[in-house]
Amino acid sequence: QFAERVRIVEVGPRDGLQNEAHTVSVKDRVALIERLAMAGLSSIEAGSFVSPRWVPQMAGTAEVFARLQRRSGTSYTVLVPNRQGFEAAVAAGVREVAVFTSASESFAQRNTNCSITKSLARFEPVCDAASAAGMRVRGYVSCVLGCPYEGAVAVAAVVEVATRLAALGCYEVSLGDTIGIGTPGKAQAMLTAVAGSMPMEQLAVHFHDTCGQALANVLACLEAGVSVVDSAVSGLGGCPYAVGASGNLATEDLVYMLNGLGIESGVDIDGVVEAGTFISGVLGRLPGSKLALARRVD
Ligand code: HMG
Ligand code: MG
Repeated sequence: QFAERVRIVEVGPRDGLQNEAHTVSVKDRVALIERLAMAGLSSIEAGSFVSPRWVPQMAGTAEVFARLQRRSGTSYTVLVPNRQGFEAAVAAGVREVAVFTSASESFAQRNTNCSITKSLARFEPVCDAASAAGMRVRGYVSCVLGCPYEGAVAVAAVVEVATRLAALGCYEVSLGDTIGIGTPGKAQAMLTAVAGSMPMEQLAVHFHDTCGQALANVLACLEAGVSVVDSAVSGLGGCPYAVGASGNLATEDLVYMLNGLGIESGVDIDGVVEAGTFISGVLGRLPGSKLALARRVD
């Protein structure tokens, strides 16, 4: 009953690197993105245009785009919190943006210094301008299975925010377990509830692996019919405003599972392992995926 094909949205160059204590150079960010595209990842979140005071790791995203050799058929997305970020993205030649808010009020405040309602109001001109320019907008909902400040988050709040993003014109809404506390039953129930109010085809899932549940959560959501999954090469990631949020689900491990299930992703697993080894070397650490560790010979 699984989808025959899953689209992976690679978020390592943004969600991963935004949380590294060590700021990765533009040259290495470009090299990582190009390796990921070569491995067949067709949707890559390549950076963000947010305040460099809030997330200094993502400064230089315009330079990343200036240097990047783009492959045709690959979309390179950036995260923007407001109109200012959108304008900067357009000026840098970006063709697809993502906006982000939260199902939890406290997290929206800590992450974007405004309420959920205010954040959605900021997205309205972004979505309108994007639509006028023929650009697609992706939407994110954070804290869909819990909040670092408020604890439990009501599924009704997730449904409300996700459907409002869709109503603004987001072609896809990614449901984020920002702090990685969800378990498969809860993840599946949350996704099913949201899919009761908007098409499943417009939904993606985004799991952080803090409690080791990310891959199990993906499997439960695949069973419920989702066909778009976010992950980060080498399990990079976290969120600077979510203390304790460890990395995202590792793309290598996701591709390994999809291959085993006979689900097509178009991704070359050796290519992603190579990209993961590259960025782990830049960061001076061992690769973060189980698969890369299992394959190590030294
Ligand atoms: P603010 O301080 O309230 O903004 O921040 P402001 O509008 O009052 O402006 C203050 C200063 O920021 C001004 O500069 C603006 O120009 C500048 P100054 O005059 O002081 O020199 N500014 C900007 N600079 C660059 N790009 C911009 C921009 N906008 C204003 N777009 C703001 C509000 C939203 C800007 C800030 O809170 C911010 O940048 N937040 C971003 C936080 C972030 O990136 N978080 C991580 C991404 S979310 C995530 O990881 C979750 C996700 O992975 C899903 C999941 O796992 O749940 C997506
Ligand atoms: Mg995230």
